Amino acid sequence: MAKKNDDFFVEKKPWSKVKDELLGCYLKPYVAKILYTRKPLAYVDCFAGKGKFDDGNPGSPLIALDIFQQGLAATKLDGNARIGAAFIDLNYASDLETNLSAYKGIKIVPGAYEDNIDDLLKSKTGCNVFLYIDPYGIKALDCTKFDAFANGQFNTIELLINMNSFGFIREACNAMGTKFKIDDSGFFDDLVEYDPTILDATDKSIEALNRIAGGDYWKDIIARYKSGEIDGYKAEEYFSEQYCQRLSESYKYVLNMPIRIQQNQHPKYRMIHATNHPDGCVLMADNICNRWELLKNIQNSGQMTLFQETFNNQIIDEEKISEYVIEHFSQCFGWTSLTEAQAVFFVKYGAICKTGDIAKALKKLEKAQRLEVMRNPSLTEKGKPSTFMTEGHGKTVSVRWVK
Ligand SMILES: C[S@@+](CC[C@H](N)C(=O)[O-])C[C@H]1O[C@@H](n2cnc3c(N)ncnc32)[C@H](O)[C@@H]1O
Repeated sequence: MAKKNDDFFVEKKPWSKVKDELLGCYLKPYVAKILYTRKPLAYVDCFAGKGKFDDGNPGSPLIALDIFQQGLAATKLDGNARIGAAFIDLNYASDLETNLSAYKGIKIVPGAYEDNIDDLLKSKTGCNVFLYIDPYGIKALDCTKFDAFANGQFNTIELLINMNSFGFIREACNAMGTKFKIDDSGFFDDLVEYDPTILDATDKSIEALNRIAGGDYWKDIIARYKSGEIDGYKAEEYFSEQYCQRLSESYKYVLNMPIRIQQNQHPKYRMIHATNHPDGCVLMADNICNRWELLKNIQNSGQMTLFQETFNNQIIDEEKISEYVIEHFSQCFGWTSLTEAQAVFFVKYGAICKTGDIAKALKKLEKAQRLEVMRNPSLTEKGKPSTFMTEGHGKTVSVRWVK
């Protein structure tokens, strides 16, 4: 059985604030948008915790429920907006009952995510499903389950996963008979939530890791680490990249977000967002950029930096964005939906800039007649040519590269 890690809930640590902030910042615009599909939202916090930290700070359940209340109050859909929220926890169902008692119509499920999720989702065919997956460790992250969720039974499906990628590498090293060493000796100590699985060098362990990773591609990474060809940080980076590639066999848009607390620090783990919905991917990427400053100030020192300056540790500027935009949009040989092209851009380069920055670069290309843009409606109410470069609210944009 997973250890309870009771200390985790004594006080909300910066790591948890970062995760919850990311979730909350995303859920607000997500709810506003998803309710307009007029299909119910089925939200499941699969590793919900206590609902509230002992220091009074809200946990992920309270954060989500407050957002749902506000979202429902703000919608003009009258009775047509429906949200069903469920909270699973192996150890804290009674705390959840107490801490969430003010909210009606929610479901609290005592037990393990892996034993309950299929049943819970059985009745959700045709719904918009969002799963928040924030375990202590890695062992419940069965990749084949994630594949099954994407089988088309839901209107939309999104996963936000806390992937303890260093934890995976450490266990994979154990299973392959080597020790994982990195220069930061306290690396795992301040991840209070990390629950080591302690795998040994047996076929059973290899099978467990294959199930989590969704294949055995990780073995080659560990072999390269073992031979000294790459260090532990590189091993984690390669594993995360390939894990996202594996997820993209089932989910078209997968965003890989390294989480760091100090500037210039290596990431401690990854938040991974997977969806088949381009709007969701663009929303998540935009949201990360928009809330970056706020997230930076979570630690009082104000020194926290959540994400690498860019995916490649470079400072991103207008020129660089323009270069990437040309590189990417020059592949749009036929008419392509702008949102779809943006989602693929973010999957490729990461959440390196806002959609507004992409739009700015695209408008320059349109002016230079290197990009054709088809807008609907093509004229404004006053009969002038439309110039918008965002989709939604009855507006569509398609783009095609000219030269
Ligand atoms: C990192 S904490 C979740 C914190 C929560 N997201 C928050 O912000 O308050 C992980 C939770 O997973 C629970 N847990 C451990 N193994 C589980 C399992 N197999 N299924 C469901 N919950 C589990 C633990 O009791 C713990 O409350």
